[in-house]
Amino acid sequence: MAFNQEQFKDIIAEFTIGGERLHEIAATFRQDLQLGLRDVTQSSMRMLKSYVGLPSGKETGEYLALDFGGTNIRVFKIRLDGDGKFEILKRVGRPLIVPGEYNYISKDATAEQMFGFIAEMIDDAIDGDHETKFYLGHTFSFPSTQDNLYNARLIIWTKEFATQGVEGEVANDLLVEALKRRGVNNVEPVAVLNDTVAVLLSAAYKTPETFIGSIYATGHNTCYLEPSIHDANCFGEGGMILNLECGNFSKLVPNRFDREYDEKSEKPGEQRFEKMVSGRYMGELFGMAIAELLGEKGKNYDLTSVDMSAIILDESENLGKATDIIMAKVGHELERDDVAKIRELASAIVIRSARLVAASFVALVWQRAGSGKIQKQHVAVDGSVYEKMPLAKENITKAISELLGEDAANVDTILDNGGSGLGAAIAAAMAVQK
Ligand code: BGC
Repeated sequence: MAFNQEQFKDIIAEFTIGGERLHEIAATFRQDLQLGLRDVTQSSMRMLKSYVGLPSGKETGEYLALDFGGTNIRVFKIRLDGDGKFEILKRVGRPLIVPGEYNYISKDATAEQMFGFIAEMIDDAIDGDHETKFYLGHTFSFPSTQDNLYNARLIIWTKEFATQGVEGEVANDLLVEALKRRGVNNVEPVAVLNDTVAVLLSAAYKTPETFIGSIYATGHNTCYLEPSIHDANCFGEGGMILNLECGNFSKLVPNRFDREYDEKSEKPGEQRFEKMVSGRYMGELFGMAIAELLGEKGKNYDLTSVDMSAIILDESENLGKATDIIMAKVGHELERDDVAKIRELASAIVIRSARLVAASFVALVWQRAGSGKIQKQHVAVDGSVYEKMPLAKENITKAISELLGEDAANVDTILDNGGSGLGAAIAAAMAVQK
């Protein structure tokens, strides 16, 4: 069977964002941001205060860092040496789900089980030492409100997490209780921060002129340094970093696949932007479009962004690898031409995602520049999609150029790999060293 050409063209058009629309999206994003700066209830983004500005770069000492933001939890012991230097002394990492064994993110799991599991990892990171005092920075990458650097309270789970008893609670309190239950009384969480904020702190510690931090991975979100916000509880320099929670940006037009997926997701109506761009969702959109092409609408093939990446990377003449993946997941032996179309579809979904993310970065660059010149700056990004997904980074760069013209020479995106851990340690140092 060969795909219907008209239907295929129509699906590709659904995932295509032309130059004019790209400008409109960036402008709408900026407007939504400005609305939120005046009155946060008017923005579709939560624009959460982080209670940190930028680090001085002089932060030093040994800290624990907990990186809790996706299905893999990591705990680090990190020594900060100042001047952008640091060393990771210990690293412990474990997944929150092992299929068939345990699942701490499902509706059936409780906060006690989840934080108990994390406390055990922290205990391993300190080698069971229950004497030495450790300060801990906690990267907790879900929308949370806070009015100081410690007390982030989870508003709502994202990324399809559903563990009971965490929404509405202060994450660090749940952690402290779990540590106490294990007899670990010498680890004191002193800072909690979103992963975007952690990436910005980590990048700014090493590379001056970085004011925007972003995660482009399972989930998606961005933060930036807002110079006009000051608060007695805020540590650091240059104003306050705002965690936009722009995964929830909803003032753009979704296509029919976005709408359909949203309706069947854990949280319909929430995280509309994230559901269009992030790694957790690209595979879902891809599968839905393939099902339509195959006349199997509604069928779930369990395709992931990793499959998409492998399909796009197959540049061979016969597309053998791509054909095998599609056979294994979709259950059809497709002709080469149809496999080529599926590959084009995967690329279109990734390119749309990259263009949308770039538009949001440019909105922030415009916002920081105001009516002045766009200064030389870096946008720090971490995450598997940015780092590994073919076409992602190059299409961000291309879209930034399209939007900024010659000013694009002043703006680049830089990978801040593992920034979530380092940023947490820096935030702990900022809190302790004042
Ligand atoms: C969360 C953000 C987080 C992002 C990246 C989103 O689902 O709401 O807080 O920064 O994922 O991890």
